[in-house]
Amino acid sequence: MSRSLLICFLICSNFLFGQVISTKLNNIELLTQVNKEGAFLYSLSYKQKQVLSKSSIGFELEKPKMVLNRFNIIKIDSNTFDQHWVPIWGEEDSIRNHYKEIVYHLKDLNGFNLDIIFRVFEDGIGLRYAFPKQPNLKYFIVRDEMTEFNLGKDHTAFWIPGDFDTNEYLYNTTKLSQVDAFKAAAKEKDIAVTSLVNDHTVQSPLMLKSDDGLYINIHEAALLNYPAMHLDLNKNSFRLTTLLVPDAVGNKAYLHTGDHTPWRTVLVSDKAIDLIASRTILNLNDPTTIKKTDWIKPQKFMGVWWEMHINKADWKLSSGKHGARTENVKKYIDFASNHQFDGVLVEGWNVGWEEWFGNWKEDVFDFVTPYNDYNIKEISNYAKSKNIKLIMHHETSGAVTNYERWMDSAYRFMKEHDINTVKTGYVGKIIPRGEHHDGQWMVNHYTRVAQKTGDYKIMVAAHEPVRPTGLHRTYPNWLANEAARGAEFNNAPTLGITPEHNTILPFTRLMGGPMDYTPGLFHFDLNQFDTSRKQRVLSTLTKQLALYVTMYSPMQMAADLPENYEAHLDAFQFIKNVPVNWSATKVIEAEPGEYLTIARRKKDAKDWYLGSITDEKSRQLVIPLNFLEQGSTYIARIYRDGPNASYDKNQTDYIIEEKIVNANSKLNIPIAKGGGTAIEFVFQLTK
Ligand code: NOJ
Ligand code: CA
Repeated sequence: MSRSLLICFLICSNFLFGQVISTKLNNIELLTQVNKEGAFLYSLSYKQKQVLSKSSIGFELEKPKMVLNRFNIIKIDSNTFDQHWVPIWGEEDSIRNHYKEIVYHLKDLNGFNLDIIFRVFEDGIGLRYAFPKQPNLKYFIVRDEMTEFNLGKDHTAFWIPGDFDTNEYLYNTTKLSQVDAFKAAAKEKDIAVTSLVNDHTVQSPLMLKSDDGLYINIHEAALLNYPAMHLDLNKNSFRLTTLLVPDAVGNKAYLHTGDHTPWRTVLVSDKAIDLIASRTILNLNDPTTIKKTDWIKPQKFMGVWWEMHINKADWKLSSGKHGARTENVKKYIDFASNHQFDGVLVEGWNVGWEEWFGNWKEDVFDFVTPYNDYNIKEISNYAKSKNIKLIMHHETSGAVTNYERWMDSAYRFMKEHDINTVKTGYVGKIIPRGEHHDGQWMVNHYTRVAQKTGDYKIMVAAHEPVRPTGLHRTYPNWLANEAARGAEFNNAPTLGITPEHNTILPFTRLMGGPMDYTPGLFHFDLNQFDTSRKQRVLSTLTKQLALYVTMYSPMQMAADLPENYEAHLDAFQFIKNVPVNWSATKVIEAEPGEYLTIARRKKDAKDWYLGSITDEKSRQLVIPLNFLEQGSTYIARIYRDGPNASYDKNQTDYIIEEKIVNANSKLNIPIAKGGGTAIEFVFQLTK
């Protein structure tokens, strides 16, 4: 790291007031100043185009009661950082972390010391607050944070309603002036717990597109010991202000001096692909402190799962069609093992499902007592003999105090049965009562789970948690999260999943990290076991394959039932072959809400995989294959939509074909409405 002290004024000097400091890296320019009134202002431009006009910052404290928004400059530091680091798993072998940093050490008029730290990257900025140790103050309570993002223009926005308890909404695409969170939420009937904020608050990651062709993303990085940030929109000025998720008594965060906030991130480019390829959020997270990481493994799994969602089976023993029966689980283990999967998830294995939801009850599950038709010992031994790892399910039903009490016993129980991955779940109103899924208390809980599972050498994927902020760099055993509308919503009666949804998720939810989306549905009418059901999966079969490449995750499920895969074993081959860990990633083309094409190179190999998806419109995929190794030959095994395929009919009309290609070849493939293409490029030889 090269560290150079650019400006250092030990005593506040008057001429600094009003002085604007520019920090530039390639196309990004950040301007910062404390104006004559003592307000701290920052603005941001990309290739001289305004991204944020002057935006102020501030805090309201509850204790001691004060507002921090008028500052003296004590000192300004700056430095530059440029290093590569190697992720334990991920989308590429090595990641460049390159930024310029500028730190304002400020003193508020109340005498409160506050540091503002900016990092300027090639594709945007990070901004965080640090609260230095200071005389006569140790503990303080944040009532509000007032960080502004002054957009100034009526951009197109890809947004979901602000909500303290859920992020499982369908995305809305409107001008900022047309944002109406209440109206959007009124259409949603299938989300278990909602706590809407108001009609003009949206969640991050917020994706924006300006009329002059800029793609802008606002989110946060390294959300630790602080509530999640929502964005309060002023529809006249198009200014966004942070709105933090409150606790049970309306406070936002309990901190002490020496603490800092998460990073607020603003990413920008004139090419949509750059945002998906951005690693800035990951770079703003700390490296892991886990020394030995060889037990952390990306994995592909199946599950006793979808059959409960589509009413073939049930989680409850008392249902008379319990899914987690020893012999049924063994069938899944057989199938998963025959097809070389790593793991099998089993839901509904433990006592408590009879009254698990809706009672705001504290003692729901103990996470160590199987139902009597689930012989965990026998199943564990069987899984081992078939080279399959079981994946444990811990549905907390929101009773998190209860889960906290059981965590150690539950993880020990897992280890006793040779289980090293857990899927957690938070369906329900949170206990401690009055807390929200995305408040400081729960943020600390998710972090404790990541740390504690790490201590037990257990990997974790959380459902219904706060949306991710790149913490998988710090906690690489925290493989994935749901934290958005995942594939289970195909089965939701009201809105389901629209064809465009998967073209928006990479620009929103996935900005913070991998999603346990659970793709791979091969049966499209969901009345297979319950004729009353009208729900349908609005996708073609080959789009389901493409999602394994476009929706990055080190934990990928083949979500459908073995019998549904048996009906299309030729297409299933792609799911079997597609890797879950990569050496290189190339985002080829993308437009939020419309289409997305990504190619990835298998970890430590020469084979490439490509996924391309579209929204409800058909399109022609025309791309050069220049990402392939020059001078080498590949077999392209193409899984594409058939001529009659569409997301709402003939979804299983697909064609599998092979071609010999090289880096000079061009692909020209039709994609059906709501369809997709998945391709394996199998390395043959170098001339
Ligand atoms: C919601 C999760 O997202 C889903 O995967 C799970 O099956 C149910 N909760 C039951 O825990
Ligand atoms: Ca869910």
